[in-house]
Amino acid sequence: MELEILANIKQSGEKELSAVRNLQELENWRIKYLGRKSKLIEVLHHLSELPVEERKKIGHQANEIKNFLASLFQRRQEELKMIQTKEIEEFFDYTLPGKPYFLGHLHPLTRVLNEIIEIFTRLGFALAEGPEIETDYYNFEALNMPKEHPARDMQDSFYLQISEEPRPCAQERGKLRAKSKEYLLRTHTSPVQIHVMEANKPPVRVIMPGRVYRHEAIDPSHSAMFHQVEGLAVDERITFADLKGTLYIFAREMFGEKIKLRFRPSYFPFVEPGAEVDISCLFCLGKGCRVCKHSGYLELLGAGMVHPKVFQAVGYNPKKYTGFAFGLGVERITMLKYGIDDMRLFFSNDLRFLNQF
Ligand code: DAH
Repeated sequence: MELEILANIKQSGEKELSAVRNLQELENWRIKYLGRKSKLIEVLHHLSELPVEERKKIGHQANEIKNFLASLFQRRQEELKMIQTKEIEEFFDYTLPGKPYFLGHLHPLTRVLNEIIEIFTRLGFALAEGPEIETDYYNFEALNMPKEHPARDMQDSFYLQISEEPRPCAQERGKLRAKSKEYLLRTHTSPVQIHVMEANKPPVRVIMPGRVYRHEAIDPSHSAMFHQVEGLAVDERITFADLKGTLYIFAREMFGEKIKLRFRPSYFPFVEPGAEVDISCLFCLGKGCRVCKHSGYLELLGAGMVHPKVFQAVGYNPKKYTGFAFGLGVERITMLKYGIDDMRLFFSNDLRFLNQF
């Protein structure tokens, strides 16, 4: 009798399992056929009531069927799980809105640099670039700043140790350091003037933008890396008036029609005469305020007439040619233009700042 019951359990279990379509139905099936209250377990519970011979036979058979159904269950469970994950993966809701697409924009320094380049390009200036790793000769010597010249103190430099030997032994190190003073990160864009004049005969009219480096404590108005644009015009009969006219047009294009310029005598070894150029304060329009420290003017750039010694260094005849040069700071102009009071904001990658442009 029990054998019959067991055969029935096996048969109907197998049949019903083939109709199971999801994990919930499978769980119901498991409870019915393998659960604590299933017919199979009931048979096993009542074994002890049977005579020994029969008990063995039925017990053996019941266990076989239990293992058989358990293995069927496991296989079906795996199948259903696979189908379910596949359905989830393949499901794609075409009615969902698209992902928002955030379009970036140029960094404020890049924008202002592009504007500067545009203005001078319109005035007939070509574009040139030079290396950021310079030799002492280009960064200082050729610009009329010989070794021990006090003007070098204004530009604390990062010197590079470039050694040809892979591992200098200790006593050699002193020698190498002396030699490594030859290489440094350029402290200004003025050395590009030398490269350009070495490679071209006059007339020359170029602007030279780029990164420069100074060994400087970082604060709201100082950075160890910043950007400059150098300008140079060389020809016969170039005068200080050409410099003034060029810079005046630049300032008006950059800051508006109302801007005034002021030239103050100043010293840069590579120009004579040299000047610092100020613009009338953008915030108080020259009346005097906290930003311009009540002077009515803001410092804009350095400029002057190219020193004859610089011409000599590049093989230009200083009797025949004259020229003007200027150097301006891109950060400074951007800060003036947008009223930014901390230079570190340019380099901190903070979107709360950058998104405002
Ligand atoms: N190179 C100077 C500096 O970084 C700026 C400068 C001043 C450049 C006068 C010039 C110039 O070309 O004529 O401080």
